Amino acid sequence: MDNDRRETGAQNRYSSAPFFSHGMFKPMPDSSARKILVTSALPYANGSLHLGHLLEMVQTDIWVRFQKSRGNDCLYVCADDAHGTAIMLTAEKLGISPEEQIARIKAEHERDAAGFHIGFDNYYSTHSEENRNWSEEIYRRLKANGHIASRAIVQAFDPEKELFLADRFIKGTCPRCKTPDQYGDNCEACGATYTPADLIDPVSAISGARPVQKESTHFFFTLPALADMLKAWIGSGTLQPQIANKLREWTDAGLQEWDISRDAPYFGFEIPGEPGKFFYVWLDAPIGYIASFQNYCQRSGRDFDSYWQADANAELYHFIGKDIINFHGLFWPAMLHSAGLRTPTAIYAHGFLTVNGTKMSKSRGTFIKAGTYLEHLDAEYLRYYFAAKLSAAVDDIDLNLEDFVQRVNADVVGKIVNIASRCAGFLRKGFDNTTAGNCAEPALLQAFLDEGEAIARAYEEREFSKAIRAIVALADRANQYIDDKKPWVLAKEGGREQEVHAVCSMGINLFRVLMTYLKPVLPAMADRSEAFLQCSLDWTALDGPLLAHQLAPFQPLLTRVDPGAVESMLDASAEQAKTGLA
Ligand code: 2FM
Ligand code: ZN
Repeated sequence: MDNDRRETGAQNRYSSAPFFSHGMFKPMPDSSARKILVTSALPYANGSLHLGHLLEMVQTDIWVRFQKSRGNDCLYVCADDAHGTAIMLTAEKLGISPEEQIARIKAEHERDAAGFHIGFDNYYSTHSEENRNWSEEIYRRLKANGHIASRAIVQAFDPEKELFLADRFIKGTCPRCKTPDQYGDNCEACGATYTPADLIDPVSAISGARPVQKESTHFFFTLPALADMLKAWIGSGTLQPQIANKLREWTDAGLQEWDISRDAPYFGFEIPGEPGKFFYVWLDAPIGYIASFQNYCQRSGRDFDSYWQADANAELYHFIGKDIINFHGLFWPAMLHSAGLRTPTAIYAHGFLTVNGTKMSKSRGTFIKAGTYLEHLDAEYLRYYFAAKLSAAVDDIDLNLEDFVQRVNADVVGKIVNIASRCAGFLRKGFDNTTAGNCAEPALLQAFLDEGEAIARAYEEREFSKAIRAIVALADRANQYIDDKKPWVLAKEGGREQEVHAVCSMGINLFRVLMTYLKPVLPAMADRSEAFLQCSLDWTALDGPLLAHQLAPFQPLLTRVDPGAVESMLDASAEQAKTGLA
């Protein structure tokens, strides 16, 4: 079986080079490598990525990069979620086909994700033949098992546009506070929740026509028939406690059948044998995980079955936001089970992103699109900040922009980069940019290496903030060591060159260990560090110092966050909101 070490040769371009004076590069034996498939939620193809999407992608990407760095065979697939009424209407408004709309958005999503160094092994679309085939196949299996029911239901219908209206496409006056122009499920002014039938003077948000009630046949997935299986799955111990509790609340309250069909016109896949009926977007969205992976297998020659068949030996993790736990924690495992496929090893849910303590807001300029961020700031600032705040809990994460500037500048630039930059000058000037032939403080280096397992455990458990705290504490120790030795004083005294050489070489070796630990979080800075250190920052090869080792000229590894750039980003976001571009 291939492993990523070989597939992503670029990441490992230094690993076989004979730079290591102590010990040789030791890849983990393939037999101990875990086979892991990871996904993050599929973004809708009707809007740009914003920093909320990036919280999830960065969390997932750090975990995947960590797994790869430990020699595990880990793959990360994702896709655009390309179906549904909203996408159809957006395309119509723009005067383009839905296919054109989803192609445009996919290109933008891929560009922005790449800008944040999200290392997908495959990025696909739910509007694909693989996804059509799997959606039809899974539906057929559910039906053959007696898990599909059908019956007529009555819904709001737009008589002008001739389409059924989901709650959010109906507007009217709030029955409680009488604010006009409120959506069909809740009032933005007073917070009341209700059904569209409660609205005063309801109108279709699409045409302005008064909705009528109309009957049509819908298809349902009989979730209650899978209740025992779901209870066992929820109780299996692999879910976060907060998720398991939430899911248990739902199963205890009694499961409902799930409506999986929508009437034409709808942009999606037609249900086999049911003309004019389409799979609801949420039916084929998670199947998009399978389809994207299958597409990857076709490109790479991977074995599909060992990941998705009921007896699969690979681990499967879905990273998601807490708002879509029901889809991933109930419908999805139940569908997989009924279809004779494997269920996920775990679902990893995170909380929402707030900016400066509140929900992202267009008027405050804190609804920040990924592309807008990248026009003003380095992606790795945000990757670091998210890592410094993320844990395995389902808690919300606040991007406090003052704290963001302060934290990145203090930790990454002031502590980590500082170790390399303060040592590099001495090595270049006095020692031909080569490290010393002996390690001055083997015990100190060993202490840094010894922390590796605790840091790895924190990454593994998605306790990234804990990993970052441990790394920053080591950076403090490294800086303290240099402060104590004062190479700048030694350099001025005659005859103490060897000590200067020893101290600065030690600093460089400590920096190497720290950057290896940080590589999952800061991949681009790690690349620049590898170019400077002339060695691979490879976790599995960290077992000795760089001795008598030639360095490349030092280049700035990361510059300070400019608070002015943060302001400009907020101004640009507020401007987009005003002009309707957000
Ligand atoms: O909530 C969303 O943005 C959905 N597009 C997520 C889909 S995740 C998966 F099921 F496809
Ligand atoms: Zn109201």
